[in-house]
Amino acid sequence: MRIVICDDAAAATRTAVDRIAAALRARPASVLGLATGGTMEPVYEGLIAAHRDGLSFAQAVSFNLDEYVGLPPGHPQSYRSYMQRHLFDHVDIAPERTFVPSGEGDPQAASDAYEAALRAHGPLDLQLLGLGHNGHIGFNEPGSSLASRTREKLLTRTTREANARFFKEGETPPRSAVTMGIGTILEARSILVLALGAGKAAAVQGTVEGPVTAMCPGSALQMHPDVTMIVDSAAAADLSLADFYREAEALRRSREGG
Ligand code: F6R
Repeated sequence: MRIVICDDAAAATRTAVDRIAAALRARPASVLGLATGGTMEPVYEGLIAAHRDGLSFAQAVSFNLDEYVGLPPGHPQSYRSYMQRHLFDHVDIAPERTFVPSGEGDPQAASDAYEAALRAHGPLDLQLLGLGHNGHIGFNEPGSSLASRTREKLLTRTTREANARFFKEGETPPRSAVTMGIGTILEARSILVLALGAGKAAAVQGTVEGPVTAMCPGSALQMHPDVTMIVDSAAAADLSLADFYREAEALRRSREGG
């Protein structure tokens, strides 16, 4: 795993945006795996700015990781409407090429349809991931099978509490989501993880240095040959080999001439 430790959240976000933009420039018809959540909002702002400077999404296809069960696409807290608001409405991606799992109807049927769409368009060229405080990726909570496919997952109380901030007062956040599985995520050609702030330090440590275990779903990324983890120094605080990662990255950059 390539670990990139940046001084602060803004620098880490910029690094992630540059990496996504470079991937899209190199392959305009990229199949992108996208995430939602607070960490991604400034990433999408950066991509919208890059679009204004000429980056085109016209040939791209996108697949989001997850959607809340029970929320129709038009609900302001659905991940479909998050994506419209934070990215799709501001760039030139064709609406029919943007896939988000359906939160309506039978979750198993929605999951099967999503896997079929992924098979038809995939594999994902670049999967963007955030990291939950408990190490979840997508909504694969601790205990998820490392070979799991898209399916309905019950959200833990801590995840529901963390996400309650996005819902109106008195509104109960959904109890479950349809999420790409860990096995599904691991099929992406390349994976980019962005984790920011002291609250993510333990999850980052477990993902990068912990044993591969269902108790920290992010740790499954150790099994993938092309993962870049971008963190700020607060999120890197628990990494025992932080100095080594910094040195390795400096060497890599000097060899790349950057
Ligand atoms: C969202 C998702 C989640 C988030 C994670 C971090 O599509 O899949 O795994 O990436 O919960 O969320 P934030 O960025 O809000 O801390």
